[in-house]
Amino acid sequence: MDTIYLDNAATSFPKPETVARAMARYIDEVGAPLNRSVYESAREAELTTLSLREQLKSFFHFPEKATHVILTPGNTYGLNFLIKGYLRPGDHVIVSSMEHNAVMRPLLQLSDVAFDRIPADRQGCIDPDDIPALIRPNTKLILMAHGSNVSGTVQDAQTAGEIASRYGIPFALDGAQTAGHYPLDFEQLGLSALSVPGHKGLLGPSGIGALLVTDELAKKLSPLIAGGTGSVSDSEYLPEYLPDRFESGTMNLPGIYGWEAAMVYVSQRGVDALRAHEGALTKRFMDGLRDIPNVRLCGPERLENRVGVLSLDFLRQDNAAVAYALEQRFGILTRCGLHCAPSAHRSLGTFPKGTVRFSLGFANTEQDVDAALAAITALA
Ligand SMILES: Cc1ncc(COP(=O)(O)O)c(C=O)c1O
Repeated sequence: MDTIYLDNAATSFPKPETVARAMARYIDEVGAPLNRSVYESAREAELTTLSLREQLKSFFHFPEKATHVILTPGNTYGLNFLIKGYLRPGDHVIVSSMEHNAVMRPLLQLSDVAFDRIPADRQGCIDPDDIPALIRPNTKLILMAHGSNVSGTVQDAQTAGEIASRYGIPFALDGAQTAGHYPLDFEQLGLSALSVPGHKGLLGPSGIGALLVTDELAKKLSPLIAGGTGSVSDSEYLPEYLPDRFESGTMNLPGIYGWEAAMVYVSQRGVDALRAHEGALTKRFMDGLRDIPNVRLCGPERLENRVGVLSLDFLRQDNAAVAYALEQRFGILTRCGLHCAPSAHRSLGTFPKGTVRFSLGFANTEQDVDAALAAITALA
């Protein structure tokens, strides 16, 4: 049986063809380290890495130098670097009630840092006007998921950013579900930091991500990992400058090559075209769901406020059994459960039952959506 991949919120599949080719070329033909040597293949690796940083800078309209695009081992690491590297005992943070555990777990590890959640409604939307009441004299950061991995809800980051700036508080986004799916303009949103994964909407491999930080915030960020950087080797202290300060150890070069190739693809298509394609499929999915009984779609009704992450609660069934049947009987690959975001499910009213999540990507087609709708009809 052919399968239909509808789990792009977990990781995108397939990747553009150029991604695997670039990774294989690095392993088979380049093989050089970064920042450690001056032979030609090492220079090539450096230029490819620079190209990745430059592409991310331009894709997200990041106003700082490309040096401030810190490559991380993934989005979870970028968020940990930000949360644990920046916050100090006695600080207070504001997050939303829609956060992924990649934000909540590191935050809860900091037992002497307090936090408040901006409540989200049953569609997963926060009201930025709730933020001022939560601000305390020691509030050091406002951090939230731009898009929800459970309901696809995209928050009003523009207004939240304006409020953060009015109070002089750094504003940061977890771009896991919007990067590559929805316009995300670092400068326009007034961000101080943005963490993104390489392997979701940016179509690269897993095990790599980026944390984009302003110089002002970078100066207050402690590096969590220290080690060799191939630079300032006469000193046993980390270099002060970026990105070296935050990139100790041998980097994930196959990942860098793969992601660089993916970014060429993503930049050429452009986020508006990717959004238009996925938005049209999301609309088709939502329209089709209207006629199917016993299924509740979580998240916003309005297309403008969401990405192609569609969580369904099958009202008369066990959602895990539905996800299993979708695969076994129809070859449709989804993800069920709580999606590492228990608080988001609480906000949406789907805790602890969870949902079946269908998530669309650049390679999905109208036929994929129609097949999913037919399967949902048969199971509901
Ligand atoms: C909203 C959100 N934040 C953070 C993460 C963590 O990203 P990663 O697993 O790529 O480190 C995810 C992954 O699903 C996510 O959806």
